[in-house]
Amino acid sequence: MPQATYHFPRGFLWGAATASHQVEGSNTNNQWWKWEQDGHTNGTSGLAADWWGGRWREDFDRAAEGGQNAQRISVEWSRIQPEPDKWDEEAIEKYRAMLRGLRERGMTAMVTLHHFTDPLWVTEQGAWETEAIVPLFKRFVRKVVDALKEYVNLWVTINEPNVCALSGYANGAFPPGINDIKQAVKVEANMLRAHAAAYRAIHELQPEARVGYALHYRPMVPKLKWSPLDRLMRNIRYEGVNMAFPTGISTGIMKTPVGNIAVPEAKGTQDYLGINYYSVDTISFHIGNQKELFTYSGFAENADFSDNNFIANIPEGFFDTIKWAVRTYPNLPIIVTENGIECADDHIRPRYIAQHIHQMWRAVNFNWPIKGYFHWSLVDNFEWERGWTQRFGLWGLDLDTQKRIKRPSVDFYAEICKENGLSSEMVQKYCPEVFDKIFPS
Ligand code: BGC
Repeated sequence: MPQATYHFPRGFLWGAATASHQVEGSNTNNQWWKWEQDGHTNGTSGLAADWWGGRWREDFDRAAEGGQNAQRISVEWSRIQPEPDKWDEEAIEKYRAMLRGLRERGMTAMVTLHHFTDPLWVTEQGAWETEAIVPLFKRFVRKVVDALKEYVNLWVTINEPNVCALSGYANGAFPPGINDIKQAVKVEANMLRAHAAAYRAIHELQPEARVGYALHYRPMVPKLKWSPLDRLMRNIRYEGVNMAFPTGISTGIMKTPVGNIAVPEAKGTQDYLGINYYSVDTISFHIGNQKELFTYSGFAENADFSDNNFIANIPEGFFDTIKWAVRTYPNLPIIVTENGIECADDHIRPRYIAQHIHQMWRAVNFNWPIKGYFHWSLVDNFEWERGWTQRFGLWGLDLDTQKRIKRPSVDFYAEICKENGLSSEMVQKYCPEVFDKIFPS
């Protein structure tokens, strides 16, 4: 049986990722809370993992004991700016305490400025539907960066603008629940404008900052490879989901299947590319799905599925994603800002982690500039429209007691972080079923 360790470059960031609304709890002043109260989600966020009540401390302790040298969190706009002309200095102080907490535990902070939630007053003003959002977001960003820059220089302006815009305005799973692809594209263009403004604002305040956004990248294949219709649908959906922001940032023109939008100020506004990778979609033609341009997205049959079939474990797609990123932006640093799987009993997570880290290691061996990996997520959290039906945490969460439940993946990921690599012993111990795939004889 082969014995080896797949090591990563010195200084590689090993972390976990979280988002304010999903872990903080009692986050009542944003559009998601309202959407939950209106009955659109599978349960409500409630107290979540109670970070706002202070439990971030114990979870950061767990992360640090788990060998993490980094952690990605997000800040909540609706707490920091509860009203258009009101800043909540106490809320800002809480975030400063969290970031100090990371520093004291030896972890590099990565901070996301927008992760799906908007203050209610922003929603009332039309949120991302008009360009009026750009100065609003910029003002918020300036305030936050000025207050937190002592502790942070790694910023994510907007998490998954593609998911945020398309889920809110095309398939309607997110608030405001609209089905209008053209509007989705306009929203995404405004996100690109706001990203560009934030990029510049951050650099003005903190010249040494590293600023990017997190792209949810979905590799896609046609369901029937020989079918021109499925291939066409795959291409339309691929362009629509994946390429709007990347083309906007490469060229200043955001390209989409329903038209191009010039955002010249966006050109070149990234210091690294943040990648959120989960799975590979199988696309076919679906006459009934007008709201998603007649495309249907599923998974390969007989794939290795997560608990709710929400994610198919397709690690090769992770390598392809990184390869795409390197080809699209040669020499630009890449940070894996999210990667993970939902699984309450942890039967699939260890192999998902092992196989994905193996693929990332393959990519590192081409000398591609991958600088870090943030697992989604540290602890079970509120999964948006899916509520608590999906458990993405390394640590489980008992919602009634707030007790953390240690899953086997905790020790596995800790061994990876501490070794700065993945060894054959680890794979043998935590997921022997994929040993031959990762360490072939
Ligand atoms: C989002 C996270 C979410 C995760 C798993 C990503 O698209 O950024 O907020 O929890 O997927 O569903």
